[in-house]
Amino acid sequence: MKKKSIYQRVLLKLSGEALAGEAKTGISTSVINRIADDIVEANNLGVQLGIVIGGGNIFRGVAASAQGMDRASSDYMGMLATCINALALQDALEKKGLETRVQTAIAMAEIAEPYIRRKAIRHLEKNRIVIFAGGTGNPFFTTDTAATLRAMEINAEIIMKATKVEGIYDKDPVQHRDAELFSELSYIEVLNRGLAVMDSTAISLSMDNKLPIVTFNLNRKGNISRVLVGEKIGTVIK
Ligand code: GTP
Repeated sequence: MKKKSIYQRVLLKLSGEALAGEAKTGISTSVINRIADDIVEANNLGVQLGIVIGGGNIFRGVAASAQGMDRASSDYMGMLATCINALALQDALEKKGLETRVQTAIAMAEIAEPYIRRKAIRHLEKNRIVIFAGGTGNPFFTTDTAATLRAMEINAEIIMKATKVEGIYDKDPVQHRDAELFSELSYIEVLNRGLAVMDSTAISLSMDNKLPIVTFNLNRKGNISRVLVGEKIGTVIK
């Protein structure tokens, strides 16, 4: 029997670093192609997919402001970085035959469509993957917050937050071998324990709007589809 997504519409959040691969910066064509393969597989499950992409592989606003750059300026540079990633992802997805549209929160009409909520929804209904670039269009907000905002605007049923590890642990799994993976957490637990999965603005916004989040390992091939067909992987926050 052909597998189907248990969700109709989801918002996938990809970090910029996810595109960088081993090099940690820039865009790796082989990595982006592998992610695109996973997205093709997800698309075949019959889900409508919006994607928010970060920009940390190109420019990380918070880090630059920590070194003395004005936070607003560095955040705008980070937003531009997300646009570069969005175009790269669009190219990789379209080479594999998917229909996509990029919408930006910051006007750059020669490069991509502006973000228009109702148009984004029409694209999704026509089975086009919509890549939302430019964060929220405002400094001081992360792309995780942008993902939460867009997810709510397009009425996504869940945010799929792709990460480098299996999910959320009680301590850093890279440094502690006995770190335990949570299968489920409440928003308030994430906030109270200060678990660094998403910033508190994004978590609170999801909590206020009862939008579940699943965090999972993007580096394991097929994981996007596993989440979509309802396999219990990663950590669910709800
Ligand atoms: P329909 O309403 O279903 O026809 O959607 P569509 O996206 O195919 O229609 P439209 O004519 O708006 O877009 C055609 C192409 O132009 C798509 O690739 C859009 O992404 C692109 N496009 C639309 N608006 C803009 C814009 O303001 N700037 C840029 N750079 N591209 C745009």
